[in-house]
Parts: sequence; structure tokens; C-alpha cells
Amino acid sequence: MTERLASLLTTMRTHTLTMFSGCDRITFCKQAHPDFSPIGWHLGHIGYTEALWLLKGEKTIQPAFAKIFAVDALPKAQRSTLPLQADVLEYLAEIREAVLKKLSPDSDERLWHFLIQHEAQHLETVKWVLQILRPQVGGLDPSQIPTKLSMTQVPSGSFCQGSEQAEALDNERPMQTVHLPNFWIDQHPVSQSQYAIFLEAGGYHDPQWWSETGWEWLKSQTITHPNTWGGCADLPVCGISWYEADAYSRFVGKRLPTESEWEKAAKLGFLTGQGQVWEWTQTGFHPYPGFEHYPYHGYSAAYFDDAHRVLKGGSRATQPALKRPSFRNWFPPESRVTFTGLRCASDVAMGNN
Ligand code: AVJ
Ligand code: FE
Repeated sequence: MTERLASLLTTMRTHTLTMFSGCDRITFCKQAHPDFSPIGWHLGHIGYTEALWLLKGEKTIQPAFAKIFAVDALPKAQRSTLPLQADVLEYLAEIREAVLKKLSPDSDERLWHFLIQHEAQHLETVKWVLQILRPQVGGLDPSQIPTKLSMTQVPSGSFCQGSEQAEALDNERPMQTVHLPNFWIDQHPVSQSQYAIFLEAGGYHDPQWWSETGWEWLKSQTITHPNTWGGCADLPVCGISWYEADAYSRFVGKRLPTESEWEKAAKLGFLTGQGQVWEWTQTGFHPYPGFEHYPYHGYSAAYFDDAHRVLKGGSRATQPALKRPSFRNWFPPESRVTFTGLRCASDVAMGNN
């Protein structure tokens, strides 16, 4: 167990260091979007959080950094005055050295997995921020382009939702048996060319496809297409809010899948093309019956507020450490800068528009 954890920690850190190599000071400190901190803040926060949980009760390394990198220390808009990248990297290295000395067969495996996945989640946010600073449409994997667009039928029956493996985060627990009637689901995420039909049909000007809140939201925006748009038409549509995903599904006579439907289809091996975009589900982010927060209330429980929707799958920026059918991500429905797309579901057989 200790060797596996040590190697997972090291691998994740290699990804982090690679991402920051050659990063200039402006990119390091710039707040690119009101929802996100500068990438340099994420780097320091990864180290701070690792020390917080794994070096509990020890002498604090760089106490001044806690006033910057703790999640509740400064509002996001005030996180642009950061130490030099070299000093933050040294902070991370010093913490990591101390942490590895503590790793033993008695270590709480679940806590270590939490920190590995915490780093992975912040790495993905760093990639979103870099996409805002230097937009690029490329980067999606062309080998993932579907050859045949079709829906697949998932037979009625029970499955086990969630996970109780050491890797599973608090919101994936406890596992529960869920029975679902027969349904259909797209085998692939919706592509840009499919979504273009909605745009060309005037979908962004026609309230009949939109929920009431979705239409209100759309009228407050000046948008005419997804946030990431162009390039290869066969690639998954990316950069859409929940409202756009919901409207598109209605336009094609379908609906968004529930989280349970998505997870069942994924666990049965029916879904392909995962790993390019996070996929919106119909489902609000709520606890499973018997939920217990871990390691702190603010990780998941603070978001059980009816203002977040569950996303499944993972994007091209998601580390493999987070890619499992039980993983639950959550964003507010208006979020569209987070490598997010959709696939549709329906109760009855349908062509792929
Ligand atoms: C699960 C991706 C919504 O980054 O806001 C990181 C994960 N929680 N540090 C986020 C998280 C605390 C979280 N998301
Ligand atoms: Fe965090």
C-alpha cells in the first residue's frame, strides 16, 4: 500500500511540475475569470492542503503562506499577489519531503487518496484557466471521433451506484442498489456538428427549447454559440452551460440522463468517448442516503444546496486518478468554462438526430 501511494503521489506531482514548467510571472498571477483563482494560487494551495492533512500537529512550513493558500484565507479576486513561482515550488518540495517520511503501513489510505485526487482536481482547474488565457480549439483527441452515431439500450434492472473503494470520495459513499427501468442513451457525447444543427435552426433565439430559468439566463448573456467552438466538427461540443445542454436535448426530442442512468450505462460498458468532456446530467448534487462528510464538511457537503448539478465522465484535462463511473463532479448550471458537454438519453428508441 505505501509503495502504491508513494508512486501515485509522485506521478501526480510530475504532472503538476510539467504543467508549470516555463510558466511566466503574468500567467502565474493573473485571474483569468471571476470563478477561478490564478494558477499560481492553485499551485500553492495544493501544497498547503497536503500539509494541512498529512502534517497535522507538526511545525508549519512557511506559516506566512497559509494566509494566502488556505481556501478561506482570501477572496478569489485577491489572490493575484503571489510569492515567486520558485518559492512556491520549494514550499511544495519541502512539504512533500516531510509527508513521505510519514507514509507507513498504518497510514489512513483514504486520506492519502483524497490528497492525490485533490491535486488532480486543482490541476484540471489550472488547465481550464490556461484555456481562458490562451484559447485553443485543438487538443481534443481525434482517435476518439465516433465512426457511428447511435443510441444504445440499457435494459431495466438494478445496479450498484457509488463506490466504497479506498479511492472513493465522501460523496460517492455509501454504495446503494438502484433499480432503473429500460432507457436509451447516446453512445458518444454530442458532437459540434450535431450541435450546429441546433444553432442553425435558431435554437438560441427560440424559447420553446429552453427551460424558464434557462431562457432567463440566456437573455442575460450575449452568447451565440458554445464557449469552445470551431475546429473539427466531429469532436464533442465543449463549453456549454447546463441550460444549453438541457435546451439542445429538448430540441432533438430527448432529455439529459439522470446521474444514475449515466453511471449504470458506464458501469455496464455502454458508453464510449468518455474522457473528452464532463457530461451534464439532469441530477442535482445531493448526498446519498447515509452520507458522512470526509475529510471536512466543505469538500462536498457545502455544495448540497440545489445550486449545483452533477457531471460525470471527465474531460481531456482530467487525470486518470479521477476517471471512474462513480466519480461525481458538480458545477452551477450557468458554468461554461469548464470543458463540459453532454450526451442525451430517452425513454424510447430514437435516431441520433
Ligand atoms: C469538485 C472540482 C468542484 O475544484 O472546486 C478542490 C474540488 N475541492 N479543492 C473544486 C475541490 C476542494 C472542486 N470540484
Ligand atoms: Fe482545494
